[in-house]
Amino acid sequence: MQNIVILTGAGISAESGLRTFRAEDGLWEDHPVEQVATPEGFAADPALVQRFYDQRRAGVLAAMPNPAHQALGQLDRVWREEARGELLLVTQNIDDLHERGGATDVLHMHGEALSVWCTICDARQHWVEPLSGNPPCPSCGAAGLRPDIVWFGEMPYRMDEIFGALGRADLFVSIGTSGAVYPAAGFVQYARENGARTLELNLEPSLGSRLFDETRLGPASELVPQWVAEMLQSG
Ligand code: APR
Repeated sequence: MQNIVILTGAGISAESGLRTFRAEDGLWEDHPVEQVATPEGFAADPALVQRFYDQRRAGVLAAMPNPAHQALGQLDRVWREEARGELLLVTQNIDDLHERGGATDVLHMHGEALSVWCTICDARQHWVEPLSGNPPCPSCGAAGLRPDIVWFGEMPYRMDEIFGALGRADLFVSIGTSGAVYPAAGFVQYARENGARTLELNLEPSLGSRLFDETRLGPASELVPQWVAEMLQSG
């Protein structure tokens, strides 16, 4: 039995054509975070923020899962079907490429591009259309829909569940994240303190690399299938 927690970031979707945030061509280079990813920015200019996430949503719908997403989908299925232990896949990403790669019960701690949240009735629902033009909430009819995204200053989703799984983990694997944003950047330390082995798969060393027992550098589309093959052979 081996309990695994996997954390993914924008790097796992880079080879699917979705931009990361902090590279030189990153999203935050031409979209100041304060304007498009904070509640204050949304209050100041909702049309700008809706347009920004309309672009993100359209990009997600046009993207395809890459071999890294597919490998994690396979690992998820085998771990569940062979009852080899818990496997929790936590992603900071708002795309649905893990799901389309075959993973189930993906925990989107920063929300989802394909979900909307009504600020009037609090209902959340699957959504693929633009929000520019303020369409009515399907539940209450009010023009109060916002992206179901966790902005800076807001609480990430299902943190208790994540820390519970980290406390039970034998292995924590971080894939495609810079380790720049908390609370996700603190997961490796918490996992270590609770006895987990820690592995990082990333294109370059992250800010937290020194905290990992092992770091493998390279593109996720190569590193992740290779790691999953090792896990499935380990029996
Ligand atoms: N394969 C593996 N790793 C990659 C690849 C790739 N093909 N391409 C880029 N990376 C790595 C980069 O080296 C970098 O370390 O992915 C990481 C991406 O880092 P960020 O752009 O900071 O994205 P992320 O870590 O997911 O950001 C975390 O910050 O802005 C918030 O909410 C946003 O969820 C996001 C959070």
